[in-house]
Amino acid sequence: MSNTILAIESSCDDTSIAIIHNDAILVNKVASQSIHEKYGGIVPEVASRQHLVNIVPVLDVALKEANLMMRDLDAIAVTRGPGLLGSLLVGVSFAKALALSLKIPLIEVNHMQAHVLAHFIDSPSPSLPFLCLTVSGGHTQIVLIKDSLEMEVIGQTRDDAAGEAYDKSGKMLGLPYPAGPLIDKKAQLGKPIFQFPEPQVEGLDFSFSGLKTAIRYFLRDAIKVNPNFVDENLNDICASIQDRINTILVNKIISAAKKTGISEIAIAGGVSANSGLRSLMKSTAHELGWNLYIPQFQYCTDNAAMIAQAALFKFQKGEFAGLDIKPEARLVI
Ligand code: KG4
Ligand code: ZN
Repeated sequence: MSNTILAIESSCDDTSIAIIHNDAILVNKVASQSIHEKYGGIVPEVASRQHLVNIVPVLDVALKEANLMMRDLDAIAVTRGPGLLGSLLVGVSFAKALALSLKIPLIEVNHMQAHVLAHFIDSPSPSLPFLCLTVSGGHTQIVLIKDSLEMEVIGQTRDDAAGEAYDKSGKMLGLPYPAGPLIDKKAQLGKPIFQFPEPQVEGLDFSFSGLKTAIRYFLRDAIKVNPNFVDENLNDICASIQDRINTILVNKIISAAKKTGISEIAIAGGVSANSGLRSLMKSTAHELGWNLYIPQFQYCTDNAAMIAQAALFKFQKGEFAGLDIKPEARLVI
């Protein structure tokens, strides 16, 4: 059975369209919205308007690069949630219109499942069951994957996501949004010489709000003594914040691996692009005998290729959606 699936991702601030044919991603286009930088965070209303501007040009480029016509498509896939409602609405409405006019099936995809399933785009992919630490701007989860579409969240954040912890810490340091990649860059030039506390959260759940407060007070006190403290120590401060966020994440995935007896371990989501997290995961995997899976950078941050991969599993199982589906901001795995 031929399968050429066009997938749309618009859950946050990136408008992305990918096309998968059989097992191969033919194209994965992402239009990012730098407009949010000046606001220090994503403005939902602006994001949805920007999706409206971007979505048709991104579709045109994707089809052109894949050398395909609309009539070559066998299904349309779209992120139904979780995410920003107005942003999701643009993608879902657009996908419905395409499916209806082309008379082909619609497939709905859960964005968090798709982050996990990004591991099946390239080989080798993890063997089932495996654990995935999904760390993004909106989520921090440890997911137990039993089958391609059967997953259970066994740990999650009780407050801020790991990406938010990076972005909010960066904001306190005067760095522009999103601060995660900048902290990563500066951390590579510094040393983790400042100590921030590790929150004591039982089980496999996370908490980052205490860390945020600890950083705020640390900076306040240090600036009182030396007004130039941040400028003079920026690289070391970034290295220290990064080190603490990453040790919180890795200590929990170590606990999850012990608890489940699983040593197939994966990371996903925007924060998995962090170089410190990648190297800490690699050294931990080496020490504990895990098989570690880290997706290519372009499949870590929000992208439609992962939506296409998730849709392929649904397509193969004949799991199609009705044209009456509605986006859901808080869709769970
Ligand atoms: O998965 P993603 O692209 O979008 C969401 O679904 O949230 O993740 C975006 C998050 C942002 O918080 C950003 O600061 C963070 O991922 N991020 C990083 C790095 N690259 C992206 N955080 C730390 N280090 C990085 N290199
Ligand atoms: Zn995401």
